[in-house]
Amino acid sequence: MANVPFSRKLWNSKKIPALGLGTNAGFLYDPELTEHAVAAAIDIGYRLFDCSPIYMNEKNIGKAIQAKIYEKVVKRKDLFIVTKFWITNHKSMNVSDSLTSSLKALKLDYVDLFLMTWPFSHSNDVDYTNVWIEMENCIHKKMTKSIGVCNFNLEQLTRLQQFATIKPAVIQVECHINLNQTELRDYCKRNEIILMGYTPFGDVHEATDGPYSEWRTSEQVTLDAPEMKAIAEKYKKTVYQVALRYLTQIGVVPIPKSCSLMHIESNIEIFDFQLTQEEILIIDRLDCNKRIHTANQYRAHDYYPFY
Ligand SMILES: NC(=O)c1ccc[n+]([C@@H]2O[C@H](COP(=O)([O-])OP(=O)(O)OC[C@H]3O[C@@H](n4cnc5c(N)ncnc54)[C@H](OP(=O)(O)O)[C@@H]3O)[C@@H](O)[C@H]2O)c1
Repeated sequence: MANVPFSRKLWNSKKIPALGLGTNAGFLYDPELTEHAVAAAIDIGYRLFDCSPIYMNEKNIGKAIQAKIYEKVVKRKDLFIVTKFWITNHKSMNVSDSLTSSLKALKLDYVDLFLMTWPFSHSNDVDYTNVWIEMENCIHKKMTKSIGVCNFNLEQLTRLQQFATIKPAVIQVECHINLNQTELRDYCKRNEIILMGYTPFGDVHEATDGPYSEWRTSEQVTLDAPEMKAIAEKYKKTVYQVALRYLTQIGVVPIPKSCSLMHIESNIEIFDFQLTQEEILIIDRLDCNKRIHTANQYRAHDYYPFY
């Protein structure tokens, strides 16, 4: 199996793989499962790993990465590691402390991308532009190669762009066949920002009464729509593979999460077929602005993004 190609370029000329592995296995899971998943994914050819201290498994991911570097399966420079800054930390502004702690857990000297997870802070009294200044400092301190944001709306991203000394390289948002982010994608294309798509399958198995339930709705993404099934049948692929292929063809870098070897293997097998323009348009029509991760409990906060 071929490695995921580093086929996309950030505005700062650094390259980024066309597909990554999400690592939020939920609080209910054993972090060792993610450790095995990351190690297997490196063997299989994944190079981008989307991490966060809030997923409580960066130590295990660090162990998997180190093991694969030690085994000479991969070199550090061939990996693209992402971590994030969490909302409870906005107030104390300890942005570089948070990154230092992630780097320690991941056993790395630098990450490739450092993201602000939400535009709002838990305490609702911090402007995200202040956090951004600290994130820019993390580039100056060589702790990260690039910086970006998650879950910003278009207005917030535009405001950040006008303010920033170092502009965002990536915006990570929910993106799937029912929420294809047309407007944001157009803006990103014009401004050389890569759109990384999280929850590409609608987070299919996460319990709606589990620890993340307040962050999400019980909605499902319509991967089994007849249009998806017909396209999957034509290419002898699964609807999951068609969903990922669609995202890569519309310019998105998807980061599906899986701890199953079978799924990790099948999710990477999307580079040997090409959807036609007509099929892209058919899937485009499944977009209905359906958002799974609504973070409803923060709706009243000043910088809540989804209105
Ligand atoms: N920045 C943010 O605010 C934010 C928010 C949410 C997510 N994320 C990131 O995005 C990543 C992905 O999103 P997500 O975890 O919410 O949801 P997702 O990737 O849409 O869905 C994950 C679920 O799909 C299953 N799955 C994966 N491949 C499959 C396949 N081929 N066939 C059938 N089922 C399959 C997984 O189960 P198995 O493990 O059994 O395969 C898992 O239950 C996260 O892990 C995280 O890294 C970021």
